[in-house]
Parts: sequence; C-alpha cells; structure tokens
Amino acid sequence: MSERSGTPADDPFRGRQPTSHEQRAGQPWDASYRDGPAPWDIGQPQPAIVRLASGGGFAGAVLDAGCGTGDNALHVASLGLPMLGVDVAETAVAIAQEKAGARGIDAEFVVGDAFELGLLGRTFDTVLDCGLFHTFEGEERRDYVTSLASVTDRGATLYVLCFSDVDPDNSGPHPVGEDELRAAFGRGAGWNIEAVEPSRIETTFAADGMPAWLATITRI
Ligand SMILES: C[S@@+](CC[C@H](N)C(=O)[O-])C[C@H]1O[C@@H](n2cnc3c(N)ncnc32)[C@H](O)[C@@H]1O
Repeated sequence: MSERSGTPADDPFRGRQPTSHEQRAGQPWDASYRDGPAPWDIGQPQPAIVRLASGGGFAGAVLDAGCGTGDNALHVASLGLPMLGVDVAETAVAIAQEKAGARGIDAEFVVGDAFELGLLGRTFDTVLDCGLFHTFEGEERRDYVTSLASVTDRGATLYVLCFSDVDPDNSGPHPVGEDELRAAFGRGAGWNIEAVEPSRIETTFAADGMPAWLATITRI
C-alpha cells in the first residue's frame, strides 16, 4: 500500500489520507455532492471542453480524472470514444452513472483515487483534468503527476483546465500560475507542455466563467 492509503476504516475518507483541500474544508469531497449541485457542477460540459472536443482534441481511450457528476466525460463519450471517469466522491460517481444510463451514453464511471491511478490497470490516450489539479498543493501535485504518468504512454495527451491567477481580483478558488503548471509538468517528470492558453471555467456563481488556463501537455 502506498503512504496515501491506510487501513480501510469506517471513516468519511474511507481509509484515504484527506487531501489538502479536504483538510481545509473539514469534510470529504463527497459531502459537496450530497445536498444539490456543487458550485462547479453546472449541469452541462464546460464550454472550453466542448470546444476542445469539437476541434478533435480527444482521441483513443479517454480518462477523466476527478470527473465529478460526469458532464464533461459524457460529452466526450457521446463522440464515440471509450471513456472512464474516476472520482473519489461516490455520490458524484453514482450521479454520473445515472446520467449515462438516462442519456444512453456508453461511459464507465468508477470510484477511485487520482493518486492511485495505476490501480486501474490500464492506459489512456487522452486524459482530461477539469478542476482537479488546481485543488492539489505541493507534494500532492508531484504524486498526482506521477500517478498520471502510470496510466499514460509516450505520446498521450493531457488537458488540464484549472483556475488561473491572471486576475487576482477575480479569480476562482485555488488559482494556479502558469509557472506552477510548467513546474509540475516538467520534462524530468515525463511531460512536455505544448501550450498554456487563457480560458474560462464556468461555475454556478459565475455563468460567464472565471479566468482559467487550458494546458495541453504531452507524455514524453
Ligand atoms: C472542482 S471538482 C471538478 C469536477 C468535474 N471535473 C467538473 O468539472 O465538474 C474536483 C473533483 O475532483 C474530485 N477529486 C478530488 N480529489 C480527488 C482524488 N484524489 N481522486 C479523484 N478525484 C478527486 C472531487 O471529488 C471533485 O469531483
């Protein structure tokens, strides 16, 4: 077992070490999904992801890391690509599974830890991270990047859509600097940053979105 997983116990984190976000929030991610939509759960795919998909950005087997209730994953899956959505929040995964069934879209959603992606036992050609990376700090980022590397082969593409720090007076939670993206996904860790472009992430409190980065990253 890794240092991130402990003895399975009847605790709100189900034996996981709480992430820095969960420690600050004082509750597991799952709690965000139990009483109606979370602020990031806008009931449709993020426009930035829709544009990416319509531009042919997704190919092969796709992983959505931290998929939430699945609208981004379902949009990509609706294009006919094999999709696996993974999230630690079991309520979110159950909602995503229900949506897939109700919409008749073939997509798989499982409860899983982004720090332990290797346990999935498969690799992916494209990985989507919409709003997950920016919730991690310090060593979590290093461990997450290593975990992503364990499920990707050379040439795979990773998209990270995260809140940006470009407008300190109007930023979402966990704003990330471009330099932080470049530091996390360096060549030494097995990645090459192809592009970091200004984008937006819509939320229930900001329909026109908050400043974000869309990073296109290749596994080398
Ligand atoms: C800001 S939400 C974004 C959800 C979804 N991608 C979206 O765009 O609606 C971050 C998601 O990451 C999930 N998450 C946080 N830490 C995780 C981890 N270690 N492993 C897997 N999922 C995680 C949370 O449960 C939550 O659903």
